Amino acid sequence: MAAAGADLLRFITCGSVDDGKSTLIGRLLYESHVLPADQLAALDADSRRRGQPAGTPDFSLLVDGLAAEREQSITIDVAYRHFATARRRFIVADTPGHEQYTRNMVTGATTADAAVLLVDAHEGLLAQTQRHARLVSLLGIRHVLVAINKMDRVGWSRATFERLADAFRDFACPLGFADIACVPLSALYGDNVTAASTNSPWYAGPTLLGWLETIDVDSDRVGKPLRLPVQWVNRPDARFRGFAGTLESGAVRRGDTLVALPSGAQSRVARIVAPGGDLEAAVAGQAVTLTLETGIDVGRGDLLAHVTDPPAVADQLEATIIWMHEAPMLPGRAYFARIGTRTVTGTITALKHRIDVATHGELAARTLELNDIGVCTLAFDQPVAFDSYADNRATGALVLIDRLTNDTVGAGTVRFALRRAQNVHWQSLDVDKAQRAAQKAQRPRVLWFTGLSGAGKSTIANLVEKKLHAAGRHTYLLDGDNVRHGLNRDLGFRDADRVENIRRVAEVARLMTDAGLIVLVSFISPFRSERRMARELFAAGEFLEIHVDTTLEAAESRDAKGLYAKARRGELANFTGIDSPYEPPGHPELRIDTATTTPEEAADLVIACLERAGR
Ligand code: ADX
Repeated sequence: MAAAGADLLRFITCGSVDDGKSTLIGRLLYESHVLPADQLAALDADSRRRGQPAGTPDFSLLVDGLAAEREQSITIDVAYRHFATARRRFIVADTPGHEQYTRNMVTGATTADAAVLLVDAHEGLLAQTQRHARLVSLLGIRHVLVAINKMDRVGWSRATFERLADAFRDFACPLGFADIACVPLSALYGDNVTAASTNSPWYAGPTLLGWLETIDVDSDRVGKPLRLPVQWVNRPDARFRGFAGTLESGAVRRGDTLVALPSGAQSRVARIVAPGGDLEAAVAGQAVTLTLETGIDVGRGDLLAHVTDPPAVADQLEATIIWMHEAPMLPGRAYFARIGTRTVTGTITALKHRIDVATHGELAARTLELNDIGVCTLAFDQPVAFDSYADNRATGALVLIDRLTNDTVGAGTVRFALRRAQNVHWQSLDVDKAQRAAQKAQRPRVLWFTGLSGAGKSTIANLVEKKLHAAGRHTYLLDGDNVRHGLNRDLGFRDADRVENIRRVAEVARLMTDAGLIVLVSFISPFRSERRMARELFAAGEFLEIHVDTTLEAAESRDAKGLYAKARRGELANFTGIDSPYEPPGHPELRIDTATTTPEEAADLVIACLERAGR
């Protein structure tokens, strides 16, 4: 197959420095002659200095000092190193192997076709190797080589090698790898890395490099359904525009009927333009520009596929999520979700279970902590096109990003689309929001009061409602303490509960504005993320955030309900301001300083703010 990239193998190495990972990568680079002569000479000098034969330098030092493309941020550190042999080019993702660095491994593994798992023959099969194997399988890598390293330290014992190889195969059986090779080697001395070793006459399998050179990973991708994410639209004003992108999988021919997703518009391929000229057909890995016979609406981020074999289009799905952030995952919180080439807003609607990486068992869980893996359902704010990760790694992977910090917090692999909402249609009703509001002669609004417990939110909200009511306005006051007695009585005060508390009350407030009301919401609502989520449910100008701003000392000295005292005595956990955070608003529509404002004055300020927003 002459596809671009067909001679390229991307792989990842998993293991720690102690397992000999850097030595192994160094050896591969050394023996594939990518190193300049002066570095080779320096390495040989290093070998001699350490009393080792020539060609057995301390490769880990070399690898640390070598230039590599790095993907580096506060949270991710992956080095991509290139080398080549006569048969293939290679890019190896080198990731720090410590348990904490799952996200490095995930980053390196999403583009890799094969994985080399390092096992120290002396140490045996560790929990870390099992964890790596599990992740590699989750990320859809189907070709795995277990490098049983440091065989020189166990006297090239065939029994030791076979015991470890059997143990790994037993463990990995449920992980669904297409191909598992176990190779006895010594990265330090070079045995079975690029050349078969005389120390293991009992081993008839491939060398590490021999395996890397011959595994077939490209045929899978070309044989799959066409997936062409549109990265760029040429001449968007012209009638016959060009849609540029790289085929992630499959093949396309001139005259094929394609569908653009999620819109569903169809047309036939008029031309396939490549850098060298027009093509009759293109396959996975090639970058092309397509023009279509009719001028349909296709945008950047859309996915082109054959009408006969389209991806799923849905706004809900089930996925396996690997959590990669110190702050735990919170079901109900909105994150950015990047799926394929599209970024949408998504929420984890439920965590079904956590996965025990060692036993493959399912554990009950309410949240995912750093490095945890769990099966979740997600809902997006719009339909997206995707495949299951098992069918297509490029269109079935997703990344979750914190909306305030832009940190990557999770990575996921799609299991399947959920059709829940598909059969629930939005019922259009004859009497609508505008008519309900017009009858009440008012504009629906949300007055969202946020602040510490005891700040005076409810007192002020209560006064505001009295004044509005007296003025003939139609209102409703949703108060945290009251709603927690009914609709939200199943919720406590842990972070996840507060997220769900706010999600529900925001939805209720939305229904009430749809009914034409002026809704007052008085909840601590301590997290920025959920207040933003609430705001986004409403039209511009409809949501007015009011920060009832008080110092912790002032709220605590009042302590009308005695809750601060209880919290200080340790009888009440997760109390806001004590052992649970309050994140003040950055740009509220109104900030009330309770030290200088009486409740009566505060209520007037709120009403003035409402009047300013327009009647
Ligand atoms: S929120 O954080 O989820 O928005 P909400 O406004 O519904 O909180 O409820 C806060 C009220 O619950 C407080 O006014 C207080 O009376 C009571 N409460 C009981 N336990 C706690 C706690 N651990 N933290 C804060 N408020 C608590």
